[in-house]
Amino acid sequence: MTLEERRPATGPVVVYGATGYTGRLVAEELLARGRSVVLSGRSAEKLAALAARLGDGVEAVVPAALDDPAALRDAAGRGAVLANCAGPFAWTGDAVLTAATAAGTHYLDTTGEQDWMRRVFEHHDGALRAAGVAALPGMGFDYVPGDLLCHVVGRDLQPLRRITVAYDTQDFGMTRGTMRSALEMVHGRDVAYEGGRWRTGGARPVREHVRFPAPIGRRLVARYPAGEILTVPRHLQVRDVVARLTAVSIAPRAVAPVVPAATPLLGRVLQGPLKGVLDRAIDRLPEGPPEDARRAVRWTIVAIAEGEDGQRAAGVVEGPDIYGLTAQTIAEGAERLADPGFTGAGALGPAAAFDAAEVLDALAPFGVRWRRDDALAA
Ligand SMILES: NC(=O)c1ccc[n+]([C@@H]2O[C@H](COP(=O)([O-])OP(=O)(O)OC[C@H]3O[C@@H](n4cnc5c(N)ncnc54)[C@H](OP(=O)(O)O)[C@@H]3O)[C@@H](O)[C@H]2O)c1
Repeated sequence: MTLEERRPATGPVVVYGATGYTGRLVAEELLARGRSVVLSGRSAEKLAALAARLGDGVEAVVPAALDDPAALRDAAGRGAVLANCAGPFAWTGDAVLTAATAAGTHYLDTTGEQDWMRRVFEHHDGALRAAGVAALPGMGFDYVPGDLLCHVVGRDLQPLRRITVAYDTQDFGMTRGTMRSALEMVHGRDVAYEGGRWRTGGARPVREHVRFPAPIGRRLVARYPAGEILTVPRHLQVRDVVARLTAVSIAPRAVAPVVPAATPLLGRVLQGPLKGVLDRAIDRLPEGPPEDARRAVRWTIVAIAEGEDGQRAAGVVEGPDIYGLTAQTIAEGAERLADPGFTGAGALGPAAAFDAAEVLDALAPFGVRWRRDDALAA
């Protein structure tokens, strides 16, 4: 059987971690788009309850624990594409991606963890290429709009001296899964891209501001171990990639001014016994924000490109509902990977796999707006 026959464009999408807050939204979005789904994850009981709730369109329920490679491979082989929504990906990623590769099934996931993305690019890429399978880690809010925006802003100024991507979020209420994953991310050893190469960045604090469009304005920012640091140099010729997050996105306004200096210290503290204490505290929290709070979240991302010749350009993308958007970008990515015209293989970022402007435009019905705004680069 050829790979194309095994990966039919009309086939279901396998959702691993379907029982989580985000996995459920992803499965619902795929069904809303007329795709059938295969629900997978570690708990047979939870999967059965979810299948009953989702009803028509659930083609199969395939329980598969991470330590059962045969079951994982069986689950991965049931669909055109596998969407991994089970995090932290530091725990789940290797087993699920290895199964997708063995099954010849394209893979995407909802990770925000830079370490896991680095592992996909550096450790899994060879096996993926050999199998003719594409893997897109970070296909959620992190880091689809940011990576795509960097591409549309920077492509005409190449070669680039620097590209800066900066995030601002308002009223973002995290799920338990995001909190656990954030604990995996804050360790002070994030990757930097400087002088045309990746290096483990250390944790130097920064004291910088970035200009966002009104009404946000100029904001104090902190280092952000974002996925664009790994993905952007793979589709743009660039010397430095800088990622920032506004201090007020991380902490309440009253303490935000100390956030940029405190983040490295926090990273070191969280490697100690405090991590276990926080993990147990997270278990006692609600699963995630209720629907109205989830939909009320606003986010804004700015990208500023500087050519080697000194020319500058900037753009902005903004929208609502980080978890709802993640369901959209995963569904959008799954549709595109399942398309028989898709020929990519190996570890890919969003703009390396797809046409950047086309995918940004496809998110417009969800309320995502993007534009060039060179004044932000002045
Ligand atoms: N960066 C972004 O834009 C973005 C957006 C959305 C989500 N995410 C990420 O996506 C992940 C899931 O988030 P969430 O909000 O859906 O979290 P969640 O509600 O806690 O769900 C976690 C899911 O992972 C599964 N899981 C956890 N540990 C597992 C293990 N050892 N073996 C098998 N399955 C395991 C859980 O299974 P059980 O139900 O059986 O416990 C559940 O299905 C997190 O890493 C989060 O950071 C990122």
